[in-house]
Amino acid sequence: MKLIHVVGARPNFMKAAPVWSAINKITDFNQILVHTGQHYDKLMSDIFFKELQIPVPDYNLNIGSDSHARQTAAIMIKFEELVNELKPDLVLVYGDVNSTVAAAMVCSKLSISIAHVEAGLRSFDRKMPEEINRLITDQLADLLFTPSKDGDDNLIKEGIPKSKIHFVGNVMIDTLVRLLPKADKPNRFKDLKQYILVTLHRPSNVDDPKSLKSILHNLETISKSIPVIFPVHPRTKKMIAESNLDIINNVNFHLIEPLGYLDFLGLMKNAATVITDSGGIQEETTYLGIPCITVRENTERPVTVSLGTNQLIGKDYYKIPDLVNNAINRKKRSYTIPPLWDGKASERIATVLLQHNNKII
Ligand code: UD1
Repeated sequence: MKLIHVVGARPNFMKAAPVWSAINKITDFNQILVHTGQHYDKLMSDIFFKELQIPVPDYNLNIGSDSHARQTAAIMIKFEELVNELKPDLVLVYGDVNSTVAAAMVCSKLSISIAHVEAGLRSFDRKMPEEINRLITDQLADLLFTPSKDGDDNLIKEGIPKSKIHFVGNVMIDTLVRLLPKADKPNRFKDLKQYILVTLHRPSNVDDPKSLKSILHNLETISKSIPVIFPVHPRTKKMIAESNLDIINNVNFHLIEPLGYLDFLGLMKNAATVITDSGGIQEETTYLGIPCITVRENTERPVTVSLGTNQLIGKDYYKIPDLVNNAINRKKRSYTIPPLWDGKASERIATVLLQHNNKII
């Protein structure tokens, strides 16, 4: 069987890495890696390939940044040409980024089977571009690999036949489990005993200067009592620059370049609390048992709240300092690691793909 894996943006890389190697271990499938180029900076892309030991992409579509329609359309045009040339039997797409939905739409019109890794997640908030990407991709996919049981329930409610759905667990946690022993704080933060780790990049938080200013103001308040480390995503960096924000003058407030996987994981596993609007970090903190404050109205990963260490604060940014203090002073909150977040999700995916191949030949 000839398989194409499509990756494009930072969170795709940690998901594709373990699936690639699990398939390699138990099959002789011809695996091809396509990078759409949605993320192209060294720190948003190249470093992950090195650290996660993902093979160099066989093809890079070099799409880059643009508006949603233009970016999605550009990926579709180039990916269609490639698919027509390579004629794969199956295309694996990951997560919920524009590259995911673009590749799925191309394949569905060419009648090529699609497998969606991280299927079924729903925030029920159609203002999020990712929610649109999830809904469309799942409608088009032939094999849907879910990370949690709520994913199965959502898909069934949307009319997806049970036979297409496979509850396999969380592939992002596979990568975390494998690399946790190698992850350490970057040298410049080695001596920090207690600190808060922050990531923010959602348009709903960073594209509105008022929201961005309020978040930064609250983070700066915290940094007066505990150091804050904030690796800044390119979108956020651009918005900070465009908004002429001049409120960051505390030496304990570390606004730094985006980090690679191992440095970030090293900081996360030792953090007093994490503040984020990322999807994956809600999951990783739940696995690690680190308190997580999510600056979003909703989450497509509800198990991180019901079982894990996550709490949502929406746009109530003013709550951040108190919540951070509570998290630091309180004893460790009890939590459970969600079912099948055990480092073996990719092996389950590889097994399903092998069975799928045996059925069709
Ligand atoms: C994308 C995903 C989001 C994911 C995030 C992780 C979509 C709709 N969004 O958001 O779900 O959580 O990746 O990072 O697919 N930029 C650079 N260098 C890069 C990439 C981006 O400078 O390598 C800047 C550009 O100014 C660009 C902006 O970041 O316009 C946004 O990039 P884009 O890929 O459109 O979306 P993200 O915000 O990264």
